Amino acid sequence: MRYLTIALTKGRLAYRTLDLLEQVGITCDEMKDKNSRKLIFANDELGVRFFLAKANDVPTYVEYGAADIGICGKDTILEEGRKLYEVIDLGFGRCRMCVCGPQAAKELLKHHQLIRVATKYPNIAKDYFYNKKHQTVEIIKLNGSIELAPLVGLSEVIVDIVETGSTLRENGLTVLEEICDLSARVIVNQVSMKRENQRVTRLIRDLKTSLQEERL
Ligand code: PRP
Repeated sequence: MRYLTIALTKGRLAYRTLDLLEQVGITCDEMKDKNSRKLIFANDELGVRFFLAKANDVPTYVEYGAADIGICGKDTILEEGRKLYEVIDLGFGRCRMCVCGPQAAKELLKHHQLIRVATKYPNIAKDYFYNKKHQTVEIIKLNGSIELAPLVGLSEVIVDIVETGSTLRENGLTVLEEICDLSARVIVNQVSMKRENQRVTRLIRDLKTSLQEERL
């Protein structure tokens, strides 16, 4: 039997995802060993294998069929714009994509000033400012610690993820506008959805049932 390959996002989402997979009987103890440098893990009995990838790469693996299924944040799905099916909202990893900055930047946004926007999500920022707000801005791509940008004068505002809001608070910044809600999603390769239909739909059904039971 062909292995069903599942791509997981490294980091915070991985642990919750592994717990959930365990609830539906898909276990992989080897993967929990934090000291291991192994990249791919298999459960031979079930004919399933997993690998961990950087968030932004998960939709890429899924679009090309290197993974049949992926689990990643809605932020990554929106940013990458890959051809794939988004099939389940897992409901964890909840946070918001927001325009943030010092309170004073609110006026600049209101008057559609030509401002600079620093972000790890240039496509989401572009779509929001150009297509939804019809506002011309300069987008500056950064790779992390985005909250630094307005503090040191690189940009007037940022587009970033807000979870608890503590990073913003501790740096004198605030949410100025909300773009969208985010959470972890299950994505499926378009060909796998047909070729592996039985196995994929069974997994989707089991995951949904398990989530429902968790919510009760
Ligand atoms: C994310 C995000 C914010 C922070 C928000 O960064 O970019 O900086 O979390 O969380 P909070 O509202 O609970 O403070 P992450 O820790 O993933 O790392 P990064 O700064 O390197 O992107």
